[in-house]
Amino acid sequence: MINLLTSHASVRKYKDEPISKETVYELVNAGQHAASSHFVQSYSIVHVTDDETKEQLAELSKNKVQILGAGAVLVFCSDYRRLEKAAELHDESVEYGYAENTLVGAIDVALCAQNIAIASESKGYGICYIGGVRNAPDEISDLLKLPKGVMPLFAMTIGVPAQENDVKPRLPIEAVLHENEYDDSKYDELLPQYDETMKAYYSQRSSNRKVSTWTEQMTDFLKSPKRTYMGESLARQGYNNK
Ligand SMILES: Cc1cc2nc3c(=O)[nH]c(=O)nc-3n(C[C@H](O)[C@H](O)[C@H](O)COP(=O)(O)O)c2cc1C
Repeated sequence: MINLLTSHASVRKYKDEPISKETVYELVNAGQHAASSHFVQSYSIVHVTDDETKEQLAELSKNKVQILGAGAVLVFCSDYRRLEKAAELHDESVEYGYAENTLVGAIDVALCAQNIAIASESKGYGICYIGGVRNAPDEISDLLKLPKGVMPLFAMTIGVPAQENDVKPRLPIEAVLHENEYDDSKYDELLPQYDETMKAYYSQRSSNRKVSTWTEQMTDFLKSPKRTYMGESLARQGYNNK
């Protein structure tokens, strides 16, 4: 299991081999067995099988290669609609407009998705998460007919790998693991070290070679805000983040 986890690399190009609905069921079943906060199971997954819908999803999320080439495309949504229906059975309503509910929904979705990722990789498939779904969350909600309470967070493409990527070196363990107290003094030494590791990786990997470091990339990525409409999109789906 640990070998499987540490050999993960996202796969973006797949062979033209569809994944059967039975296999998708098997993978989703593995996903459902992830732990769930208060057992809310606050997620739904839309398996996109219709070609036209897939085309539009690919276009809207700006990740065409993965989505159009995949054997299976799953859109992961935080879901309080089903919990609302549960309360309706008891003539009650639920309140999910708080930041806490958004966090719980996102955590539950991520745990389920990562189980599915690992289950897929254990069967020899490659996967790629598609956060690009949040490039057009309102349009994708309309496309998939997501009711209020259901928020698309990301997708996952799964398929038989046609092109494998080298495993990306992670941050040194000491950078992410703290003992008893958070210690940011160590980053001044560890981050330049990691930059050297990533520079070597980027210049030697089998495809898409480049000259870059991790700290440069992160700085570029984070120096300006991203997807600033997300607050409004969450509110549109009933997540008001009070
Ligand atoms: C939530 C999430 C969203 C992501 N979105 C995209 C995406 O839209 N397109 C893409 O090509 N890769 C996407 N990725 C993949 C990351 O780029 C990738 O995991 C990261 O660079 C580490 O590389 P590795 O997965 O090969 O180890 C996403 C990953 C996560 C966890």
